Amino acid sequence: MGKILEIKNVVVGNEEIKILRDISFEVEEREIISIVGESGCGKSITLRTIIKLLPQNLNILSGKIFFEGLEITKLKEKEMQNIRGKKIGMIFQEPSSFLNPLFTIGNQIEEGINEKVEKDKKKERVIKILEEMGLSYNVYYQYPHQLSGGMQQRAMIAMALINNPVLLLADEPTTALDVTTAFGIISLLKNLILIHNLSIIFVTHDISLAKYLSDRIFVMYAGIIVEKGPSIEVYNSPLHPYTQKLINCLPEKYNKGEKIKTIEGEVPSFKNLPLGCPFSPRCEIKNKICEKRIPPEIKIGNRIVRCFKYGNFMES
Ligand SMILES: Nc1ncnc2c1ncn2[C@@H]1O[C@H](COP(=O)(O)OP(=O)(O)OP(=O)(O)O)[C@@H](O)[C@H]1O
Ligand SMILES: [Mg+2]
Repeated sequence: MGKILEIKNVVVGNEEIKILRDISFEVEEREIISIVGESGCGKSITLRTIIKLLPQNLNILSGKIFFEGLEITKLKEKEMQNIRGKKIGMIFQEPSSFLNPLFTIGNQIEEGINEKVEKDKKKERVIKILEEMGLSYNVYYQYPHQLSGGMQQRAMIAMALINNPVLLLADEPTTALDVTTAFGIISLLKNLILIHNLSIIFVTHDISLAKYLSDRIFVMYAGIIVEKGPSIEVYNSPLHPYTQKLINCLPEKYNKGEKIKTIEGEVPSFKNLPLGCPFSPRCEIKNKICEKRIPPEIKIGNRIVRCFKYGNFMES
C-alpha cells in the first residue's frame, strides 16, 4: 500500500494561540484512521487543515502536508479547489447545516458534480450513488426535511463521494444518531473502502466505535497527538496515561451498579496551556520534566506515544 497523505510537524494557530502543535501522521491507501479525543482537542481543526479550510484567524504556521505526493501546503487557493470536494471529500459535523432546505437532495448532489456531463447522465450518477448509500431513488426528489437524521447523513456521504475522491474526511458523522442508525453508517463506511478504493479519516469521541471501524487510532489531547497505533493495540493496551484513562472511563468496562471513574481535572484552555505536556496537570505519574517540555514522539513497536514515561527521561 502507498501513502496517500503525509502530515509533517504541522503547527496551526496565530500569534496568540496554537491550536495544533506538531501534528504528524500518514494515511495509507484504503486505510481507515480514527481521530479520537474530548471536545475541543482539535479534531475538526485537523480535518480543516488537511483541506486548507481554516477559520480566518488561524493559519498553518509551520510543517508540510503532502497529498498523493503533492505538497498541498504550497498550493494556492485556486489549486486547492481542484482537490477539495474532488480528490478529498468531506462530511462536516452537522449535516442539517450543510444541506440546503430549499433544494432537493438530487439537485444538491448534482450541483457538486465536477465534470461537464449531460443532465440525464448526472441524474443517473446521483441515483446510483444514492443506491450505494442504501437510499432509494425517491430520495433524489426529496427535500432534506423529509429525511431522517440517518438518511441525511447518508445523503451527505453521497455528496462527498460524487466525484470519486480518494480520501474522505468524516467529522463525527454518527454522533447525533441513535446506536442502530450509527451502526448502519459505520458498516456503510467500511464497505465504501472496498467499492470506492478510498481512505477515510473518521473523527469521533467514541474510542469503542473507533476500534470497531478503523485500522489505526490517533488519540488527541489539547492539540497534540498523544498516541498513534493499530486500533486493537491502542484499545487493549493503551500506553499514554490519557488513553488509559479514556478507556478506563468506558461504561462497558464496568459491572452493573459499579461507580464509573472519570478523569479528574479539566482540559486546559488553549489560551492558557501548560508549558510541558498538556496532560501533566491531570496526570498521576507526572515527573518534573513533564512540566517543562512537550514529550517527543517515542516509537514503541507499532505505536508512537508522547509520554516521558517511555524512554529514559523520567530522572532528568
Ligand atoms: N477560529 C478560532 N479561533 C480560535 N480558536 C478556535 C477557532 N476555532 C476553533 N478554535 C478552538 O480550537 C479548539 C479545537 O477546536 P476543534 O473544533 O478542532 O475541536 P474538536 O476536537 O473538533 O471538538 P468537538 O468534539 O467539540 O467538535 C477549540 O478549543 C476551539 O475553541
Ligand atoms: Mg469537532
